[in-house]
Amino acid sequence: MNDRFEGAVVLISGGARGMGAEHARGLVAEGARVVIGDVLETAGEELAAELGDKHCLYVPLDVTDERQWQTAVARAEDAFGPLTGLVNNAGIVHTGPIETLDEADYRRVIDVDQVGVFLGMKAALPSLRRAGGGSIVNISSVAGIIAFPGILGYVAAKWAVRGMTKAAAQEFAPHGIRVNSVHPGVIETDMTSASAQSGQAVLHQPIARAGRPQEITGMVLYLLSDESSFATGSEFVIDGGFVSQ
Ligand SMILES: NC(=O)c1ccc[n+]([C@@H]2O[C@H](COP(=O)([O-])OP(=O)(O)OC[C@H]3O[C@@H](n4cnc5c(N)ncnc54)[C@H](O)[C@@H]3O)[C@@H](O)[C@H]2O)c1
Repeated sequence: MNDRFEGAVVLISGGARGMGAEHARGLVAEGARVVIGDVLETAGEELAAELGDKHCLYVPLDVTDERQWQTAVARAEDAFGPLTGLVNNAGIVHTGPIETLDEADYRRVIDVDQVGVFLGMKAALPSLRRAGGGSIVNISSVAGIIAFPGILGYVAAKWAVRGMTKAAAQEFAPHGIRVNSVHPGVIETDMTSASAQSGQAVLHQPIARAGRPQEITGMVLYLLSDESSFATGSEFVIDGGFVSQ
Protein backbone atom coordinates (compact mmCIF):
# COMPACT_ATOMS: atom_id res chain seq x y z
CA MET A 1 0.00 0.00 0.00
CA ASN A 2 1.21 3.55 -0.71
CA ASP A 3 -0.13 6.89 0.53
CA ARG A 4 -1.11 8.62 -2.72
CA PHE A 5 -4.73 8.75 -1.49
CA GLU A 6 -4.01 9.16 2.24
CA GLY A 7 -6.97 11.05 3.76
CA ALA A 8 -9.17 10.55 0.68
CA VAL A 9 -12.78 9.39 1.08
CA VAL A 10 -14.39 8.27 -2.18
CA LEU A 11 -17.95 7.09 -2.86
CA ILE A 12 -18.31 4.84 -5.91
CA SER A 13 -21.81 4.13 -7.23
CA GLY A 14 -22.19 0.72 -8.84
CA GLY A 15 -18.96 -0.27 -7.14
CA ALA A 16 -19.87 -3.84 -6.23
CA ARG A 17 -18.54 -5.42 -9.42
CA GLY A 18 -17.01 -4.65 -12.81
CA MET A 19 -15.04 -1.46 -13.29
CA GLY A 20 -16.36 0.15 -10.10
CA ALA A 21 -14.96 -2.71 -8.01
CA GLU A 22 -11.55 -2.31 -9.70
CA HIS A 23 -11.58 1.41 -8.90
CA ALA A 24 -12.32 0.53 -5.26
CA ARG A 25 -9.41 -1.95 -5.13
CA GLY A 26 -7.06 0.56 -6.78
CA LEU A 27 -8.01 3.36 -4.38
CA VAL A 28 -7.69 1.24 -1.24
CA ALA A 29 -4.29 -0.03 -2.43
CA GLU A 30 -3.15 3.60 -2.44
CA GLY A 31 -4.50 4.51 0.99
CA ALA A 32 -8.04 5.80 0.32
CA ARG A 33 -11.18 4.98 2.23
CA VAL A 34 -13.90 3.84 -0.15
CA VAL A 35 -17.66 3.57 0.13
CA ILE A 36 -19.33 1.25 -2.35
CA GLY A 37 -22.95 2.12 -3.15
CA ASP A 38 -24.80 -0.49 -5.17
CA VAL A 39 -28.04 -2.43 -5.50
CA LEU A 40 -26.03 -5.69 -5.38
CA GLU A 41 -25.89 -6.32 -1.64
CA THR A 42 -24.04 -9.66 -1.57
CA ALA A 43 -21.34 -8.57 -4.03
CA GLY A 44 -20.98 -5.23 -2.24
CA GLU A 45 -20.59 -6.85 1.19
CA GLU A 46 -18.08 -9.36 -0.20
CA LEU A 47 -15.94 -6.64 -1.73
CA ALA A 48 -16.06 -4.61 1.50
CA ALA A 49 -14.92 -7.71 3.42
CA GLU A 50 -12.10 -8.29 0.91
CA LEU A 51 -10.85 -4.72 1.31
CA GLY A 52 -11.33 -4.58 5.10
CA ASP A 53 -13.65 -2.46 7.23
CA LYS A 54 -10.99 0.14 8.02
CA HIS A 55 -10.84 1.01 4.34
CA CYS A 56 -14.13 0.02 2.77
CA LEU A 57 -17.84 0.21 3.55
CA TYR A 58 -20.75 -1.12 1.48
CA VAL A 59 -23.99 0.86 1.57
CA PRO A 60 -27.19 -0.10 -0.26
CA LEU A 61 -27.81 2.48 -2.98
CA ASP A 62 -30.24 2.69 -5.87
CA VAL A 63 -28.92 5.71 -7.76
CA THR A 64 -32.42 6.65 -8.94
CA ASP A 65 -33.52 7.39 -5.35
CA GLU A 66 -32.50 10.78 -3.92
CA ARG A 67 -33.12 9.73 -0.31
CA GLN A 68 -30.87 6.68 -0.69
CA TRP A 69 -28.13 8.98 -2.02
CA GLN A 70 -28.50 11.24 1.05
CA THR A 71 -28.30 8.22 3.35
CA ALA A 72 -25.26 6.84 1.52
CA VAL A 73 -23.39 10.15 1.81
CA ALA A 74 -24.32 10.47 5.50
CA ARG A 75 -23.11 6.93 6.21
CA ALA A 76 -19.87 7.60 4.34
CA GLU A 77 -19.27 10.73 6.44
CA ASP A 78 -20.08 8.92 9.69
CA ALA A 79 -17.63 6.14 8.86
CA PHE A 80 -14.74 8.01 7.25
CA GLY A 81 -15.42 11.79 7.18
CA PRO A 82 -16.48 14.16 4.38
CA LEU A 83 -16.17 12.97 0.79
CA THR A 84 -13.16 14.07 -1.22
CA GLY A 85 -14.28 12.15 -4.28
CA LEU A 86 -17.33 10.72 -6.05
CA VAL A 87 -17.32 8.26 -8.95
CA ASN A 88 -20.70 8.14 -10.69
CA ASN A 89 -20.14 4.70 -12.17
CA ALA A 90 -23.46 2.81 -11.86
CA GLY A 91 -24.98 2.03 -15.22
CA ILE A 92 -27.26 -0.27 -17.21
CA VAL A 93 -27.82 -0.83 -20.91
CA HIS A 94 -30.91 -1.94 -22.83
CA THR A 95 -30.51 -3.18 -26.37
CA GLY A 96 -32.99 -3.25 -29.24
CA PRO A 97 -34.13 -1.19 -32.23
CA ILE A 98 -36.09 2.03 -31.69
CA GLU A 99 -39.25 0.72 -33.35
CA THR A 100 -39.68 -1.98 -30.69
CA LEU A 101 -38.15 -0.10 -27.75
CA ASP A 102 -40.66 0.20 -24.89
CA GLU A 103 -41.00 3.64 -23.34
CA ALA A 104 -40.52 2.08 -19.89
CA ASP A 105 -37.20 0.49 -20.93
CA TYR A 106 -36.00 3.78 -22.44
CA ARG A 107 -36.98 5.72 -19.29
CA ARG A 108 -35.30 3.16 -17.02
CA VAL A 109 -31.94 3.64 -18.76
CA ILE A 110 -32.29 7.43 -18.57
CA ASP A 111 -33.23 7.15 -14.90
CA VAL A 112 -30.19 5.07 -13.89
CA ASP A 113 -27.53 6.36 -16.30
CA GLN A 114 -28.49 10.06 -16.44
CA VAL A 115 -30.73 11.03 -13.50
CA GLY A 116 -28.56 8.89 -11.21
CA VAL A 117 -25.54 11.04 -12.08
CA PHE A 118 -27.46 14.26 -11.34
CA LEU A 119 -28.66 12.92 -7.99
CA GLY A 120 -25.15 11.74 -7.11
CA MET A 121 -23.54 15.10 -7.83
CA LYS A 122 -26.31 16.90 -5.91
CA ALA A 123 -26.07 14.63 -2.86
CA ALA A 124 -22.27 14.68 -2.73
CA LEU A 125 -21.83 18.45 -3.16
CA PRO A 126 -22.36 19.51 0.51
CA SER A 127 -19.99 16.78 1.70
CA LEU A 128 -17.31 17.68 -0.86
CA ARG A 129 -17.62 21.30 0.27
CA ARG A 130 -17.20 20.26 3.90
CA ALA A 131 -14.02 18.45 2.85
CA GLY A 132 -12.75 21.73 1.40
CA GLY A 133 -13.06 20.59 -2.23
CA GLY A 134 -12.59 17.42 -4.24
CA SER A 135 -13.14 15.64 -7.52
CA ILE A 136 -16.15 14.08 -9.25
CA VAL A 137 -15.62 11.53 -12.01
CA ASN A 138 -18.68 10.75 -14.13
CA ILE A 139 -18.44 7.53 -16.13
CA SER A 140 -19.84 8.07 -19.61
CA SER A 141 -18.78 5.94 -22.61
CA VAL A 142 -17.61 6.17 -26.19
CA ALA A 143 -21.41 6.11 -26.66
CA GLY A 144 -21.30 9.62 -25.17
CA ILE A 145 -18.86 10.78 -27.88
CA ILE A 146 -20.32 9.07 -30.96
CA ALA A 147 -23.51 7.04 -31.46
CA PHE A 148 -24.36 3.38 -31.95
CA PRO A 149 -27.57 1.77 -33.25
CA GLY A 150 -29.66 -0.39 -30.93
CA ILE A 151 -28.92 1.40 -27.64
CA LEU A 152 -30.84 4.69 -27.96
CA GLY A 153 -31.42 5.29 -24.24
CA TYR A 154 -27.80 4.50 -23.41
CA VAL A 155 -26.48 6.88 -26.10
CA ALA A 156 -28.87 9.63 -24.92
CA ALA A 157 -27.88 9.22 -21.28
CA LYS A 158 -24.14 8.99 -21.93
CA TRP A 159 -24.18 12.14 -24.13
CA ALA A 160 -26.14 13.85 -21.35
CA VAL A 161 -23.53 12.82 -18.76
CA ARG A 162 -20.83 14.45 -20.89
CA GLY A 163 -22.80 17.72 -20.99
CA MET A 164 -23.86 17.60 -17.34
CA THR A 165 -20.20 17.15 -16.41
CA LYS A 166 -19.27 20.40 -18.11
CA ALA A 167 -22.20 22.32 -16.57
CA ALA A 168 -21.38 21.02 -13.08
CA ALA A 169 -17.67 21.77 -13.55
CA GLN A 170 -18.52 25.42 -14.13
CA GLU A 171 -20.85 25.61 -11.11
CA PHE A 172 -18.57 23.71 -8.73
CA ALA A 173 -15.18 25.28 -9.59
CA PRO A 174 -15.61 28.12 -7.05
CA HIS A 175 -15.91 25.43 -4.35
CA GLY A 176 -12.66 23.77 -5.37
CA ILE A 177 -14.52 20.81 -6.86
CA ARG A 178 -13.46 19.47 -10.27
CA VAL A 179 -15.81 17.43 -12.49
CA ASN A 180 -14.67 15.32 -15.45
CA SER A 181 -16.10 12.52 -17.57
CA VAL A 182 -14.44 9.24 -18.54
CA HIS A 183 -15.37 7.50 -21.81
CA PRO A 184 -14.36 3.84 -21.96
CA GLY A 185 -14.58 1.75 -25.13
CA VAL A 186 -15.54 -1.92 -24.92
CA ILE A 187 -14.30 -3.29 -21.59
CA GLU A 188 -14.35 -6.87 -20.26
CA THR A 189 -17.18 -6.76 -17.68
CA ASP A 190 -20.57 -8.37 -17.14
CA MET A 191 -22.19 -5.46 -19.00
CA THR A 192 -20.73 -6.46 -22.36
CA SER A 193 -21.43 -9.76 -24.09
CA ALA A 194 -18.62 -12.09 -25.13
CA SER A 195 -19.51 -11.33 -28.76
CA ALA A 196 -19.14 -7.57 -28.18
CA GLN A 197 -15.78 -8.12 -26.48
CA SER A 198 -14.39 -10.02 -29.46
CA GLY A 199 -16.54 -8.54 -32.25
CA GLN A 200 -15.59 -6.78 -35.48
CA ALA A 201 -15.69 -3.28 -33.96
CA VAL A 202 -13.08 -4.25 -31.38
CA LEU A 203 -10.95 -6.24 -33.83
CA HIS A 204 -10.73 -3.28 -36.22
CA GLN A 205 -9.80 -0.63 -33.66
CA PRO A 206 -6.10 0.38 -33.47
CA ILE A 207 -5.56 -1.63 -30.25
CA ALA A 208 -7.49 -4.68 -31.40
CA ARG A 209 -8.87 -6.06 -28.15
CA ALA A 210 -11.36 -5.22 -25.42
CA GLY A 211 -10.02 -3.18 -22.54
CA ARG A 212 -9.52 -4.47 -19.00
CA PRO A 213 -11.22 -2.73 -16.04
CA GLN A 214 -7.80 -1.85 -14.56
CA GLU A 215 -7.03 0.16 -17.69
CA ILE A 216 -9.89 2.52 -16.77
CA THR A 217 -8.94 2.57 -13.08
CA GLY A 218 -5.66 4.34 -13.87
CA MET A 219 -7.54 7.25 -15.45
CA VAL A 220 -10.16 7.42 -12.69
CA LEU A 221 -7.45 7.56 -10.01
CA TYR A 222 -5.58 10.26 -11.93
CA LEU A 223 -8.75 12.38 -12.09
CA LEU A 224 -9.48 11.84 -8.38
CA SER A 225 -5.92 12.79 -7.42
CA ASP A 226 -4.23 16.19 -7.22
CA GLU A 227 -2.15 15.23 -10.26
CA SER A 228 -5.12 16.39 -12.35
CA SER A 229 -5.51 19.65 -10.40
CA PHE A 230 -5.91 21.79 -13.57
CA ALA A 231 -8.37 19.45 -15.33
CA THR A 232 -12.09 20.14 -15.08
CA GLY A 233 -15.07 20.01 -17.43
CA SER A 234 -13.15 17.70 -19.74
CA GLU A 235 -13.70 14.31 -21.34
CA PHE A 236 -11.13 11.53 -21.14
CA VAL A 237 -11.48 8.77 -23.75
CA ILE A 238 -9.85 5.34 -23.19
CA ASP A 239 -10.95 3.08 -26.00
CA GLY A 240 -8.03 1.43 -27.80
CA GLY A 241 -8.30 4.18 -30.40
CA PHE A 242 -11.87 3.30 -31.43
CA VAL A 243 -13.24 6.84 -31.85
CA SER A 244 -10.04 8.05 -33.53
CA GLN A 245 -10.95 6.10 -36.69
N1 LIG B 1 -18.27 -2.44 -20.03
C1 LIG B 1 -18.14 -1.56 -21.01
O1 LIG B 1 -17.77 -1.93 -22.12
C2 LIG B 1 -18.42 -0.11 -20.77
C3 LIG B 1 -18.02 0.81 -21.75
C4 LIG B 1 -18.24 2.16 -21.55
C5 LIG B 1 -18.84 2.60 -20.38
N2 LIG B 1 -19.23 1.69 -19.43
C6 LIG B 1 -19.83 2.22 -18.20
O2 LIG B 1 -19.02 1.87 -17.10
C7 LIG B 1 -19.83 1.82 -15.92
C8 LIG B 1 -19.54 0.51 -15.18
O3 LIG B 1 -20.02 -0.55 -15.98
P1 LIG B 1 -19.37 -2.03 -15.97
O4 LIG B 1 -18.92 -2.30 -17.35
O5 LIG B 1 -18.44 -2.18 -14.84
O6 LIG B 1 -20.70 -2.90 -15.78
P2 LIG B 1 -21.25 -3.78 -14.56
O7 LIG B 1 -22.61 -4.19 -15.02
O8 LIG B 1 -20.27 -4.84 -14.20
O9 LIG B 1 -21.34 -2.74 -13.36
C9 LIG B 1 -22.37 -1.83 -13.22
C10 LIG B 1 -22.70 -1.70 -11.74
O10 LIG B 1 -23.76 -0.74 -11.61
C11 LIG B 1 -24.67 -1.26 -10.67
N3 LIG B 1 -26.00 -0.68 -10.84
C12 LIG B 1 -26.89 -0.88 -11.85
N4 LIG B 1 -28.02 -0.20 -11.61
C13 LIG B 1 -27.86 0.44 -10.42
C14 LIG B 1 -28.67 1.31 -9.64
N5 LIG B 1 -29.92 1.64 -10.02
N6 LIG B 1 -28.17 1.81 -8.48
C15 LIG B 1 -26.91 1.46 -8.08
N7 LIG B 1 -26.10 0.63 -8.78
C16 LIG B 1 -26.57 0.13 -9.94
C17 LIG B 1 -24.67 -2.76 -10.92
O11 LIG B 1 -25.24 -3.48 -9.83
C18 LIG B 1 -23.19 -3.02 -11.13
O12 LIG B 1 -22.51 -3.28 -9.92
C19 LIG B 1 -21.26 1.99 -16.39
O13 LIG B 1 -21.67 3.34 -16.22
C20 LIG B 1 -21.18 1.67 -17.87
O14 LIG B 1 -22.22 2.28 -18.61
C21 LIG B 1 -19.04 0.35 -19.60
